[in-house]
Amino acid sequence: MLAGKRILLIVSGGIAAYKVLDLIRRLRERGAGVIPVMTRAAEQFVTPLSLSALAGEKVYRDLFDLTDEAEMGHIQLSRAADLVVVAPATANLLAKMAGGQADDLASTLLLATDKAVLVAPAMNVRMWQHPATQRNVATLRGDGVAFVGPNEGDMACGEYGPGRMAEVPEILAAIEAALAGGPLRGRRVVVTSGPTHEPIDPVRYIANRSSGAQGTSIARALAGLGAEVVFVTGPATVPPPAGVEVVRVETAREMLEAVQAALPADAAVFAAAVADWRVANAAGQKMKKDGTGLAPALEFAENPDILATVAGMSEGRPRLVVGFAAETHDVEAHARAKRDRKACDWIVANDVSPATGIMGGAENEVTLITAEGAETWPRLSKDEVAGRLAQRIAEALA
Ligand code: CTP
Repeated sequence: MLAGKRILLIVSGGIAAYKVLDLIRRLRERGAGVIPVMTRAAEQFVTPLSLSALAGEKVYRDLFDLTDEAEMGHIQLSRAADLVVVAPATANLLAKMAGGQADDLASTLLLATDKAVLVAPAMNVRMWQHPATQRNVATLRGDGVAFVGPNEGDMACGEYGPGRMAEVPEILAAIEAALAGGPLRGRRVVVTSGPTHEPIDPVRYIANRSSGAQGTSIARALAGLGAEVVFVTGPATVPPPAGVEVVRVETAREMLEAVQAALPADAAVFAAAVADWRVANAAGQKMKKDGTGLAPALEFAENPDILATVAGMSEGRPRLVVGFAAETHDVEAHARAKRDRKACDWIVANDVSPATGIMGGAENEVTLITAEGAETWPRLSKDEVAGRLAQRIAEALA
């Protein structure tokens, strides 16, 4: 899919710039051509020689390099590629992009290009979370710029949190998706997945048997059709897919918060098996046996219904809201009632009775309930169910 494609790779100044050397190798292995551009600050982290040697191309560094202007002007350079990738993208470069500034070669190319732009941010967690950066990111998303990452994790500066540049395989997947220009390109979709964990005390929790497999397949399929996917996942047993923005949560309330923070979106798919109840009197310390033989009395409080909350939004509701219905009997009737009660557009209903082997298994048998009626699909792998659903979502958003 990458063979013969040309990527204009803009490297700005961050410690993550070293990962770009591997990215260039992987792109070239797949037959893509890479035209490297670097900012002055990037030169503090990787050398121009490393970039040009790996890319097998001249590295472009200066706006006023007249030889380059004679050979290839910056306007031409900005359009000579199939895709523009910025990795790593610093807070400063994002700010320049959002503000339309053009005071060096990288920012000028980004302003002049008529090609799709994919950005892999990398910065300190506080810089990423700063309202100014978040405003810039929202502006750029509105301009149609696609994002991959940042990921959460240990940072070179010793802090922990979102800000690490996405890993090379994730960037490759995002590049493929961006180049594929699938039917969901430019669309943003939020997907919830996995179980939630509701604490009883700091070491115990209430959970359910969801593996997160179906939600993960759906997120992967949507990203494969070009969507920008925010994947809000509880503690699942299957790893999250590449090429999506992963937001990890534990409880239903955290999941709701993460979903709300990910909006606005064109569509939202709620595949998570959210706990309906949480322990209202969860203990701050590990509960101990008191010697009386009496079990502690747990009190429960109802969790927020994430699907119903989002489907019921009076402003900023995603155009398509898809819920799941996990039932053990009278599947279709319960699912239809659930669709009405939660005011979502579609319900994907499945029978999760243990005998079906669906929960935690590799296959699923679903009935899709829409305003037009109910459609039962044959028993398929979860990947196939996801593929069909993603296709239907693409049609609905077209
Ligand atoms: N859901 C949600 N938030 C909750 C509970 C459920 O977003 N607190 C979503 C699920 O992700 C799913 C749909 O609602 O898309 C239905 O979940 P399900 O567990 O089948 O239904 P419940 O709401 O628990 O209803 P019931 O108890 O009647 O089965």
